[in-house]
Amino acid sequence: MCGIIGIVSNKPVTSNIIQSLKKLEYRGYDSAGIATIVNGNIDEKKCTGRVDNLEKILFKYPSAGFLGIGHVRWATHGIPSQINAHPHSSDEVSVVHNGIIENSNQLKKDLEKKGYKFKSQTDTEVITVLLTDFLKHFDLISSINKTLKKLNGSFALGILIKKHKDIVVGARRGSPLAVGYGPEENYLGSDSYALKSMTNRITYLDDGDVCILTNSKIEFYNSKNQKVNKKVLTLSNDKNTAEKGDYKDFMSKEINEQHITTKTCIKEYVDQLRQDINLYSFPIKPENIKKIILIGCGTAYHSCFMAKYWFEEMMSIPIEIDIASEFRYRKIKFDKKNLYVFVSQSGETADTFAALDLCKKNNVKTCSIVNAVESSIARHSDFVLPIHAGPEIGVASTKAFVGQMLVLYILGIKISEIRKEISKENYLKKINELKQLPDLIKLTLKCQDKIQIIAKDFLNAKGVMFLGRGFSFPIALEGALKLKELSYLHAEGYPAGEMKHGPLALIEEGLPVIILAPKDRYFEKTISNMQEVIARGGKVILITNENRNVISENVRFTLKIPNADEYLTPFLMTIPLQLLAYHVASLKNYDIDKPRNLAKSVTVE
Ligand code: G6P
Repeated sequence: MCGIIGIVSNKPVTSNIIQSLKKLEYRGYDSAGIATIVNGNIDEKKCTGRVDNLEKILFKYPSAGFLGIGHVRWATHGIPSQINAHPHSSDEVSVVHNGIIENSNQLKKDLEKKGYKFKSQTDTEVITVLLTDFLKHFDLISSINKTLKKLNGSFALGILIKKHKDIVVGARRGSPLAVGYGPEENYLGSDSYALKSMTNRITYLDDGDVCILTNSKIEFYNSKNQKVNKKVLTLSNDKNTAEKGDYKDFMSKEINEQHITTKTCIKEYVDQLRQDINLYSFPIKPENIKKIILIGCGTAYHSCFMAKYWFEEMMSIPIEIDIASEFRYRKIKFDKKNLYVFVSQSGETADTFAALDLCKKNNVKTCSIVNAVESSIARHSDFVLPIHAGPEIGVASTKAFVGQMLVLYILGIKISEIRKEISKENYLKKINELKQLPDLIKLTLKCQDKIQIIAKDFLNAKGVMFLGRGFSFPIALEGALKLKELSYLHAEGYPAGEMKHGPLALIEEGLPVIILAPKDRYFEKTISNMQEVIARGGKVILITNENRNVISENVRFTLKIPNADEYLTPFLMTIPLQLLAYHVASLKNYDIDKPRNLAKSVTVE
């Protein structure tokens, strides 16, 4: 998704802007651009495709300038093209924008009546033209305020103004924006990760804030236009974990390090000496929670789905799940005794944040499970549980999904222990079993070679079905999502028992069907569903446990994962499905870390 960088320095900034834009590439984008002020004029360069292309343009036509703004764009209004790429500049003003201006059509019409002409199809260009117009009649601060007042929707902005050649202006409403403090230079960024390569001292803007950066100071104004001081935070230094190392891409690194990330996470939450889970100061006493509602998008929603199945087994209270983009617009009956749990790797997903905001406005207690602890969702929740997975760069989530499930599981065990819904003995047993999870994951990762062989079967597939029951159903959903995201194959996850109510019509000779049938209470039923698929010509790939022997001549491949406790099996089931998506995409030569049309951090609605 779109990303912003701004730098004001006492030395040329282009190369640092390019390096920072490269840090933002993981978010997913289709074009890139940069603007600096050179000899008193705005110098804009942009291109479609990768930041590398922009770098080549700059190599040929260098752009000096001691201050500048850069952007990677993920198209919303207007196709990906050079004209629609950001920045959008007039002679006077240059703007980069994340978010969506909902009233841009109306504003455009009004400005056209005044004689202004538009070059692009974007909503952003209206900001450039509005500001250019106001600057003709008002001073800088009034012009910015008047421009922002006209805009409906969400934005994070980086602005250069020809007349004010020593400053970069930032503004935020709805989309995240931060500033960073460097030695004789200051930075603007939509994401602290991009700023981290330059500084670890940052400040997040709040909604309605405007900031003005020079190379020696940063000033903030709040939504009432009052000058305010803001806290400087020191970011943790986890730079190393964002390197690819010897791996071909980030995703294979992220899949293959899951035994390490889960170990780190377990260490953070499980007190080894006391055999206890370190979770205190719940926003509502667990004994008094009436209902738990789990909310997320995409993969994060699937981890909520998994938690629903676990929590229902462990607790006597109702557990609901919701997709954030639906939750935020429904007539939800809020209850102060409910706990609302938000799951988000990035902690910046616009829909999830809006759902959290709705909860806050309704004065209910919120808990967030995030990977990015400095994110907006974390900062606005009553209770934050980090997943300790380290930066996840591959757009399709893998280690963060496992991390989210892990923290949800740990939360579930702790809440049920406090509520006395599981015995002390069972609580200790679960903690002990949990400690074995990293080794079990490591063992499961050994199926890589077999998956590479299985993946070849998918090259000519029209579509794929993933079937599971009980704890395996949410994993079937996630398996299908992973394959869709990476291999662009149509894939569906279904409860195996629901097949006969429609989807069975899709089964035809040679259609690959992944059957998730661990050794659990549903095993025999799932195997019966598998036979129904085989009888109709489906090409079955069965994933089960080591101690299960399924005699069926017509199963194309059987893959066995280590035996484990029923509650831990979903973690292990996930691994071959991640690897399958990875290897199918790899055989097709697709861009693994940046699948088409997708973004890592979806900061627009
Ligand atoms: C995007 C990503 C998905 C991710 C979803 C939610 O769609 O492509 O991989 O699951 O956003 O992201 P979050 O950061 O909130 O977990």
